[in-house]
Amino acid sequence: MEKRYKSGDYAHVLRLAIILIVAAVLGIFARGMFLPDTMGQYGFYRGSDIEDQRNVTIRNQTNDACFECHRPIRLIHKEGVHKTVSCEFCHGPYADHIKDGKRVGKLPVKKGMEIKDLCLRCHNKVIKARPETSIKVIAMPQHLEEKKVQVTHNCNQCHMVHDPLLWIKAAYEMMGMEMKGDKK
Ligand code: HEC
Ligand code: HEC
Ligand code: HEC
Ligand code: HEC
Repeated sequence: MEKRYKSGDYAHVLRLAIILIVAAVLGIFARGMFLPDTMGQYGFYRGSDIEDQRNVTIRNQTNDACFECHRPIRLIHKEGVHKTVSCEFCHGPYADHIKDGKRVGKLPVKKGMEIKDLCLRCHNKVIKARPETSIKVIAMPQHLEEKKVQVTHNCNQCHMVHDPLLWIKAAYEMMGMEMKGDKK
């Protein structure tokens, strides 16, 4: 009675121990096989990742990089209300256009009613999450109704895209009127 109890117990514990040992050996083997060579070189990450990150192609640039060639736009954009807006938001990444200082591709330029959609991505009043103090928002078609024009008018008929208040300020000045608020 006592003997049977003893042997039965140890046999299954032993089987379990063997399975665990085999699993551990396989695990150590697999780890050695799959772990990148430079793992742990500097810390708990792949050391060669630093080199990889250094070689990632930079797709985006600052506005200053665009100004190097687009001088006429620079004169307008740098002084205007859109000076903080990135050229690339509206035209796409530098890398699609310039490589080693040379033009290698065309950037998209929005036309027609695509322009309106572009403007409204930032200036639409229906974007509730945006605090009104950060970007001025308008409601459509009310904005055009207030101006007493047809609702088919496009934004760039009154707003120059690269400095949206340029023409408007000039028009107010011509009429000898002040714009509401201090618009710089
Ligand atoms: C708010 C969006 C917006 C921003 C920001 C913007 N652009 Fe534009 N850009 C446009 C639109 C829309 C047009 C075409 C319509 C127009 O000129 O009225 C255009 C036209 C152009 C053109 C003329 C293309 C052609 O073939 O006629 C160039 C060049 C250009 N932009 C470069 C730039 C540069 C450089 C910057 C950054 C300083 C910039 N843009 C910033 C929207 C923008
Ligand atoms: C190395 C000079 C150079 C730089 C830097 C440069 N461009 Fe251009 N870009 C050109 C030339 C050249 C043209 C074609 C002639 C023209 O329209 O003035 C052009 C044309 C454009 C056009 C009209 C569509 C097209 O591709 O022909 C847009 C939009 C434009 N550039 C935007 C930009 C933006 C945005 C940047 C910065 C991210 C930029 N450019 C940086 C030289 C440059
Ligand atoms: C990427 C976001 C973005 C896009 C796209 C954009 N704008 Fe702007 N716009 C701004 C920011 C930021 C300002 C400066 C903060 C402000 O005054 O609201 C501004 C300012 C303005 C102002 C001056 C507001 C004021 O009274 O001070 C006008 C008008 C304007 N944009 C019209 C346009 C038009 C028209 C378009 C389309 C061609 C356009 N915006 C596209 C972000 C954007
Ligand atoms: C008929 C001319 C006209 C058209 C078209 C027009 N606007 Fe305006 N917009 C103005 C004038 C003028 C102002 C100056 C502020 C004022 O007098 O209310 C202005 C002001 C703005 C402002 C600043 C609002 C504020 O609270 O200060 C934004 C943003 C704006 N417009 C965006 C747009 C967008 C986006 C479109 C296209 C969907 C557009 N506008 C079409 C004439 C126009």
